[in-house]
Amino acid sequence: MTSEPEPLASQKRRLPLIGTYERDLPVSLARMFENALDWEHLPHLHSDSFESIRCLDAGAWGWHCMATLGGMASGQEVELELRLEPERQRWITRTLSGVGAGTEIWSHVYEQAGGGLKVIVDFFVPDIPEEARAGIADYYQTLYAQLYDEDVSMMTGRQAALDARKAEPLSGCQTEIMLGPETEIRARAPFVFELAGARYRLVELEGKLLAHTIICPHLLGPLEDAEIIDGAVRCPWHGYEFDIASGACRTGQACRLSEPPDIRIGTDEQVRATLVP
Ligand code: FES
Ligand SMILES: [Fe+2]
Repeated sequence: MTSEPEPLASQKRRLPLIGTYERDLPVSLARMFENALDWEHLPHLHSDSFESIRCLDAGAWGWHCMATLGGMASGQEVELELRLEPERQRWITRTLSGVGAGTEIWSHVYEQAGGGLKVIVDFFVPDIPEEARAGIADYYQTLYAQLYDEDVSMMTGRQAALDARKAEPLSGCQTEIMLGPETEIRARAPFVFELAGARYRLVELEGKLLAHTIICPHLLGPLEDAEIIDGAVRCPWHGYEFDIASGACRTGQACRLSEPPDIRIGTDEQVRATLVP
């Protein structure tokens, strides 16, 4: 269910501006707005800052969530709302309850002549004594520097994956490759190999050699170095887990890994990867 949020409190009363963070980002407006609306990545991509999140409501207007903070505020629950105003190229994040209640963080983005964006983030925090403002401003600026370091890697990675998807599919390429002798392959695993223009990771699970795609079916997150837990690969962007043997999503979302090549060991003890038509 989606709903239009109430007008922001700061539009009715003035909050003190305690500090600002600015940064040039090598990303498009589309990736930036997508990132702002993406509440689900907070405890995964920003695991130092958020321990968990529960969505109460979300839509094209923004989101309303309960989040458990990490870091210095570890374990504290806050109620957050983000409202996107694309026509004004900005979004406002409000802390509705919990630690820092009443805080509003206004983010504006501006397209740069040479490409990319400039983001300017203003921190409005109520009830901070004058002498404490510089310290609180420093806290938010350091926090946002880390959040954007992490977000840039996701936004640029997703853009690269989208661009690669648009590229012409390879035709007439081989559907099988010889990976090497079994003993050597078991010693090298896990490793990434390419077949028919796509990349896969070869892993050994309980003695069995298997391959899985290195592109997450959710939003194209990177799985080449993803953690493996009980036979499942966990995407670092939103934490979805996929069973490597079956491709099924183990965290309940409606997506699954694309079909991997079959990994076979021949009588010659050579390991082959074969795409199944
Ligand atoms: S991109 Fe979202 S879980 Fe992988
Ligand atoms: Fe983020």
